[in-house]
Amino acid sequence: MNTELAKNVNWVGYVDWPVRDFHGYQTKRGSSYNAYLVQGNDKVALIDTVKAPYVDFLLDNVRALRPLDQVDIIVCNHAEPDHSGALPAVVKACPNAVVVCNAKCKDALSRHYDTADWRFQIVKEGETLDLGGRTLQFFDTVMCHWPESMVTYLVEEEILFSMDCFGQHYATYRRFDDEADMNEVMQEAKTYYANIVLPYAQPVANAAKKLSTLKLRIVAPSHGVIWRSHFDQIFKAYLDWHVSKPTPKVIVFYSTMWQSTRHMAEAIVQGANESDVCVKLFDLKAVGDTELITELMDCAAFAVGTPTLNQSLMPRVAAALTYIRGLKPAGKKALAFGSYGWASKGAQEAETYLKAFGCELLVPAITCRFAPDAETLDKCREAGRLLAQAALAVK
Ligand code: FEO
Repeated sequence: MNTELAKNVNWVGYVDWPVRDFHGYQTKRGSSYNAYLVQGNDKVALIDTVKAPYVDFLLDNVRALRPLDQVDIIVCNHAEPDHSGALPAVVKACPNAVVVCNAKCKDALSRHYDTADWRFQIVKEGETLDLGGRTLQFFDTVMCHWPESMVTYLVEEEILFSMDCFGQHYATYRRFDDEADMNEVMQEAKTYYANIVLPYAQPVANAAKKLSTLKLRIVAPSHGVIWRSHFDQIFKAYLDWHVSKPTPKVIVFYSTMWQSTRHMAEAIVQGANESDVCVKLFDLKAVGDTELITELMDCAAFAVGTPTLNQSLMPRVAAALTYIRGLKPAGKKALAFGSYGWASKGAQEAETYLKAFGCELLVPAITCRFAPDAETLDKCREAGRLLAQAALAVK
């Protein structure tokens, strides 16, 4: 595996092929925890670590390049345990190393681990550290993805260690974008943005603006492939995703008990499909929240269907809407629908979520008692046409 970003600058992380869950995000193509070793003439710096169980892989990768007692600096850009979990063991294994991070990160690390014996060097925005012919420069990137998040720039090589920004949960033994399948890489970059970055879209955009003055030859995130050939593609995608830029796409998702809500969903799809827009239908039994939010992020309009269950909505619909609410996709048009038996509550409750998302409601919730009659199905088809019109308007 080619791990060299530049002479004496190497990837030393861990590729996690089997991981399928990242705090609720279904990582169907695994992930990687990227750490990097930068060897200057005078000092050696390890940039970040890996998840705790994989510390031995990281240490072996470092040892293959330099003895561990020659590591002088361990940069911690971000305290989240996928990058800092191995830090306690790494600090022990590298007896001469000082942990370099910002003040907020030091505080976060001390709340996760026993840091009483650690030697820290606190760095501030723009500060530099000379490794001998190699200079590290640090920039705070607040809320990209936690309050203490920071990135590290290797000045002479024009390499930005961008932490979570521009990452992908994607396992591959090809370390660089131009060595990997770009269709898969971009799909996973989009899924990562929708499931991790979306609620912090504005801070990430602010950070990107601040860092855009740097000369960049390589952008090395903490997950997935390293960008050295397709900057334009990922930067442009981040601009679009930042505003959840709507495309001419309609999403209909639903849960059903006795098929009534499913028949309503299918009638909505029929109406939408009369126009030349992309229409996708998801039964929540068959789609996870990770895929759903990725589809929703760039749709123009969507409909959510739920029967009434015990005077509320279906638990699977509530789970999906709760997940979506946290990620805050912006600027969508939407509607709710669903059947009920004797009290119409589910679709109305779903509508409350849509309002909380800031969606513009195209019509009041469409409901039917027990099973949809011809008139209800006509209403559903008409609602589908409205969704399609909203989608066509963004063309
Ligand atoms: Fe990959 Fe926010 O940690």
